[in-house]
Amino acid sequence: MKSENIKQIHLAVFASGGGSNARVLTTFFENRANITVSLFLTNNPQSGVVTLGKEYNIPVRVLSGKTLEESSVIAPLLKEFCIDYLVLAGFLKKIPDHLIKTYPDKIFNIHPSLLPKYGGKGMYGHFVHEAVKNSGDDRSGCTVHLVNEEYDKGRILHQTEIPVTADMSAEDIATAVLKEEHLCFAPVIESYIRNREGL
Ligand code: GAR
Repeated sequence: MKSENIKQIHLAVFASGGGSNARVLTTFFENRANITVSLFLTNNPQSGVVTLGKEYNIPVRVLSGKTLEESSVIAPLLKEFCIDYLVLAGFLKKIPDHLIKTYPDKIFNIHPSLLPKYGGKGMYGHFVHEAVKNSGDDRSGCTVHLVNEEYDKGRILHQTEIPVTADMSAEDIATAVLKEEHLCFAPVIESYIRNREGL
């Protein structure tokens, strides 16, 4: 149970796919003072966050791409849940400029490569790992960064590297990178918010 007397920061977690990062964030912040996952948003009714929301009693809203673009729909929703920060956990739609303006330096993304390598439009999930495999690079990893108007170009907060060996398939690289994502994403968000909010 979180104390109602101390300041609470509310996170909205956006996800499009399986939702394993969203799950880790939910369990991590469940046991932390001050910071709570308060809303899930997805563009995909099959996303893992739909069941995750039921499991943890956290509201889920399914948005069409168009709804995301319309500030008249999403802004009141984020306000209703007192959302302070947005977290993109495998969210594959571009965040519209109106949200970037409303949440300046308050939107986090995790990307499954060592940015600036293998970032940008169309570079997500397995496309990233296949590109790494085909490049012959001997390392990959994940990047936690702030979101600005350009895909994968916001300020980098953290990177974790993994070694890539010639015998690894793109799937092996994906598995190794995802494991690191689960370890770093929530602590990086927590530390950024605590510093910024003086918590
Ligand atoms: C994660 O590997 C995340 O880094 C990636 O999608 C996967 C989502 O997994 N995101 C991107 O590629 C964004 N460009 P999850 O749904 O199991 O958390």
